[in-house]
Amino acid sequence: MIEVNNLCKHFILKKRKSGFLGSVQSLFYYEKDVIKAVDNISFKIKSGELVGYIGQNGAGKSTTIKMLTGILKPSSGEVLVNGVNPSKDRARNAFQIGVVFGQRSQLWMDLPVEESFDLLRSIYRIDKKMYDKKIEFFSDLLGINEFMKQQARKLSLGQRMKADLAASLLHSPSVLFLDEPTIGLDLLVKEKVRTFIKNINENEKVTIILTTHDIQDIEFLADRIIIIDKGKIGYDGDISNFNKMVGNDSYVSVHFQEQIKNFNLPHPYEIKQKISELHYLIKIPDEEPLSKLLEFFQKNKYSIQEINREKPELGEAIKKMYEGRSVN
Ligand SMILES: Nc1ncnc2c1ncn2[C@@H]1O[C@H](COP(=O)(O)OP(=O)(O)OP(=O)(O)O)[C@@H](O)[C@H]1O
Ligand SMILES: [Mg+2]
Repeated sequence: MIEVNNLCKHFILKKRKSGFLGSVQSLFYYEKDVIKAVDNISFKIKSGELVGYIGQNGAGKSTTIKMLTGILKPSSGEVLVNGVNPSKDRARNAFQIGVVFGQRSQLWMDLPVEESFDLLRSIYRIDKKMYDKKIEFFSDLLGINEFMKQQARKLSLGQRMKADLAASLLHSPSVLFLDEPTIGLDLLVKEKVRTFIKNINENEKVTIILTTHDIQDIEFLADRIIIIDKGKIGYDGDISNFNKMVGNDSYVSVHFQEQIKNFNLPHPYEIKQKISELHYLIKIPDEEPLSKLLEFFQKNKYSIQEINREKPELGEAIKKMYEGRSVN
């Protein structure tokens, strides 16, 4: 179980003055800029949950993860991971958590993957039998056997991410932090990594906190999302509730066979976008059946070539929140 109470991380930046005189002055006197990267956040995550932690660039996601893993010490507030304070008891925390930073590998770059894993095996005192079983498991699911002898520096991005994922789980942690684990991956590898993450959560019961900019990661993996915006929590709850709260209508994309003059729609439909003379995007409330719209087209003798109802996008909803609509 993870508990975060009134957690803050403020970075203090010295404002330097320009010019020679300015830099001399700065030795004695400087103005400060405070960046409230994480600004009084609280949440609880139960064992076995998979939570998507999302927000725009610079929202404070990585800073939160760094405090949860003990890399950064909070400015104030409290973090407990299974009762352990990560920044005070970093070593103890390390045994119970795994972490992957998509932007930077945790492997020893000059060593073959195998040797990095061997080092981790001795650091975490992993029993040889258990270790062999894990390697087999990761080979089956991620194909790591294909590049175990390769120097980490020479791995492709996808291989590196797979190796990092396996490395983070070698010591069977109960909690896994994934900071953009699918960044830069091609679609096939992305899907493999996603399926792997889901498997680890569902079958191995690993609690997972995942940050990503990829909405499909979230839709596929998370039931619960926490949205952070400028260091503050904007939403914490179900994905489906979130969609409802921001009033996420769905859309119907219609291709007509011929151009329609003075195209007007009755309530509750709205033209969201005229994509071309023959192609319109129509806004339709979530609960509204398509049949009524079709009846309207028939009555007016609008012949349709193709019609599709589009799923409401989580991304749209998040964008709406950023545009200033409060949802919590
Ligand atoms: N070591 C640091 N010193 C000063 N400011 C920092 C430091 N680390 C992060 N920040 C600032 O804190 C804010 C939050 O950064 P953070 O890396 O947590 O964002 P993020 O949500 O992970 O963004 P991204 O999606 O781009 O990874 C940003 O304004 C960033 O510039
Ligand atoms: Mg980040």
